[in-house]
Amino acid sequence: EKSGYEHFMLKEIHEQPKSLKDVLSGRINELTGDVELPEIKLTQEQINDIRRIVIVACGTSYHAGLAGKYVLEMLTDVPVSVEIGSEFRYSSSRTDHHTLIIALSQSGETADTAASVKDAVKKGAYVIAVTNTVGSTIARESQSTIYMRCGPEIGVAATKTFTSQLAVMYLLSIYLGRRRNTLNAYNAMKLLSDLKNLPRDAQAVLDQSEAIASYAKIFSRANLFLFVGRHLNYPVALEGALKLKEISYIFSEGFAAGELKHGPLALLTTGVPVIAITTKSPTYEKMISNIKEIKARDASVIAIASEGDEAISQLVDVVIRVPDVGEIVSPILSSIVLQLFAYHVAVCTGCPIDKPRNLAKSVTVE
Ligand code: M6R
Repeated sequence: EKSGYEHFMLKEIHEQPKSLKDVLSGRINELTGDVELPEIKLTQEQINDIRRIVIVACGTSYHAGLAGKYVLEMLTDVPVSVEIGSEFRYSSSRTDHHTLIIALSQSGETADTAASVKDAVKKGAYVIAVTNTVGSTIARESQSTIYMRCGPEIGVAATKTFTSQLAVMYLLSIYLGRRRNTLNAYNAMKLLSDLKNLPRDAQAVLDQSEAIASYAKIFSRANLFLFVGRHLNYPVALEGALKLKEISYIFSEGFAAGELKHGPLALLTTGVPVIAITTKSPTYEKMISNIKEIKARDASVIAIASEGDEAISQLVDVVIRVPDVGEIVSPILSSIVLQLFAYHVAVCTGCPIDKPRNLAKSVTVE
């Protein structure tokens, strides 16, 4: 079943051109600059009435939620918060019929996320589930469900489902932005065309697997990895670190690059690898300053940069390129780089990649 791949994780990473195509299929209307999600049963009146959005999720899905928050807030006028499933119950914020809850869960069975959904429905909130699993608990408890259509994900490490969650969050943001009149058709069309090109762009990243494997090998003896990014690339950094730690058992942590000076810089010494997500975006220049700070401590920088950015090569130790796409869509491509990187580091450390110790594919206890 691994179709010739050594691990399910690698197979699933390579399936992303297809899973991205499937998640978008039939949901993009390029003529009207709109998104079609008939599974959302909200009326126009209910959409107008939304005063806040709360995204609830755990683990990798939580990281997709953090990215979703930035995009929802860019494209709609609704304030968004992102809550870890196991923490949501302690929040004293008010949940009522003006609240839209988005529950992100690949399995649809994560106990803490499911408990949050139940509680929110009881309080009168409208819940949209985003899941990969038809008929799962979270899908059944929610008023609407958007399926990710990834097919089964066997590797414990979430890969293709993460990039599809991001794609769904973008579709949903466009859907709500168009209906609340905060996003015009022209701007929506630009985003939709970037989304449509994702399967091709994802393939371009996968075509660099060998180079990424060789960089992973060079750094695989490190005992600490840091990942940094800003804005939408901050959740990409968090997810890159989670992926690496869960399958290679090497301590890794993601940071908002602006936080470096507030503590993490103290961890940097000669050769500590820092992965900097530095694709083209309004925060690019600030990332360059951070990279200079990191290099001044003699740490090693592996940059993920957009094609065509030649200047960055002078500043860092290794550059891994992703196609030069809009800042909203590029996190999907950078994440694929980081999945491959984590995978190949774990190959070098000899870990059981598809079944990391102590972890289960779905966490059904609270
Ligand atoms: O099924 P879910 O998306 O609700 O699962 C949430 C987390 O348990 C999951 O994303 C976990 O963090 C991944 N295995 C990490 O790769």
